[in-house]
Amino acid sequence: MSDHPLASSDPAPAPSPADAVTPRRRVLSGMRPTGAMHLGHWHGALKNWVRLQDEYECFFFAADWHALTTHYEEREVIETSVYEMVTDWLAAGLDPDKVTLFIQSRLPEHAELFTLLAMGTPLGWLERMPTYKDQIERLKDRDLATYGFLGYPLLQAADILIYKANFVPVGVDQAPHVEITREVARRFNHLYGREPDFDELVRAALKKLGKDRAKEFEAARHAYRESGDVAALERGRAIIAASGSLGGADRERLDGHLRGTGKTILVEPDVLLTETSKLVGLDGTKMSKSYGNAIAMREDPVEVERKIRRMPTDPARVHRSDSGDPEKCPVWQFHKVYSDDETKAWVVHGCTTAAIGCLDCKQPLIEAIIREQAPWRERAEPYLTNPKRVHWIVEVGTERARTVARETMREVREAMGLSY
Ligand code: TRP
Ligand code: SF4
Repeated sequence: MSDHPLASSDPAPAPSPADAVTPRRRVLSGMRPTGAMHLGHWHGALKNWVRLQDEYECFFFAADWHALTTHYEEREVIETSVYEMVTDWLAAGLDPDKVTLFIQSRLPEHAELFTLLAMGTPLGWLERMPTYKDQIERLKDRDLATYGFLGYPLLQAADILIYKANFVPVGVDQAPHVEITREVARRFNHLYGREPDFDELVRAALKKLGKDRAKEFEAARHAYRESGDVAALERGRAIIAASGSLGGADRERLDGHLRGTGKTILVEPDVLLTETSKLVGLDGTKMSKSYGNAIAMREDPVEVERKIRRMPTDPARVHRSDSGDPEKCPVWQFHKVYSDDETKAWVVHGCTTAAIGCLDCKQPLIEAIIREQAPWRERAEPYLTNPKRVHWIVEVGTERARTVARETMREVREAMGLSY
């Protein structure tokens, strides 16, 4: 206790428990740079990223190497696309004081981890990826029979594992890539997460538990390993936790022994499935700049109005007096994302009874989209007048990311016997 007169009369505020306890869980995600973002990006991913930034420690990056796996002949587009994309991330409301924004190719550490992981990754894991065959089919005009394209998911695994991310917010199409990331991490920990004399050290640690407890522990381990019995895993862990004679290193060894992995060097991430409202393109197919059916996030309001007014509608409504079916109309898909229940009811009734025309129907959408865009335009303004600000934000983010990536690589090299 201090006897300073001020100490008792003016106590410092107690640190809030949130500051003191566990660090925030880490989120990582990336996007291939495709230039200015459109409304599909906003509703499908960005909106969610903005939400996550307050709750998690977030790392978001431009996956420019991944862009090269499919577009390796188009070097001109990459640089402008990266900065246009990041400008729209900022416009969307990502706060550079809260999140770390960076560029994949600026961190050769990703490539190093990719190379090291490649050594032990069975070819079959990559060949079996659903995205692999799909894309080769879909992008028939490109030659994707490349080594880089086959390695796409493994490069993604390196992106994720190097930050020890707990969560990866992606759409369902990317879920298999997070799954393979888990497998890669598990295999890595199994292969390299053990000290050379692991078995001996485990035996010594078991001795410290005492005969009876060690027996119970081994029984729990067998039960867990044979049938994946989670209760058995918990029993084993409870024994470790209850033991007074084990140090930290021994606890970790026994936990690895119990689960059949080594020490956790690389963290298995979970998918954070984006609860999104999927927004289709103007023609009802997937929104994509290359299909010419997109509205950019910072599209000029006059253009927004023109594009919406030209949207195709239910082909049955040839004349104003013909009734229609919203389910056959892409405009209705937009209402599902943008309109409240009252407006939606107005659309359904008006369309099926021909009480409203298609231009009437589109008007509230035009207004809703222009309203949604206003803050984006405002936030983008300072970055557009001074693009160096974006470069600077990326610079700072890249160095922050590098600190983490370097530390992981140090552990990885050491685990693999490469730290000489
Ligand atoms: N493959 C992702 C996509 O096409 C982009 C990506 C690359 C990514 N590396 C990642 C996403 C790591 C999440 C985590 O959208
Ligand atoms: Fe589509 Fe609306 Fe026209 Fe119906 S009234 S066809 S929902 S634009």
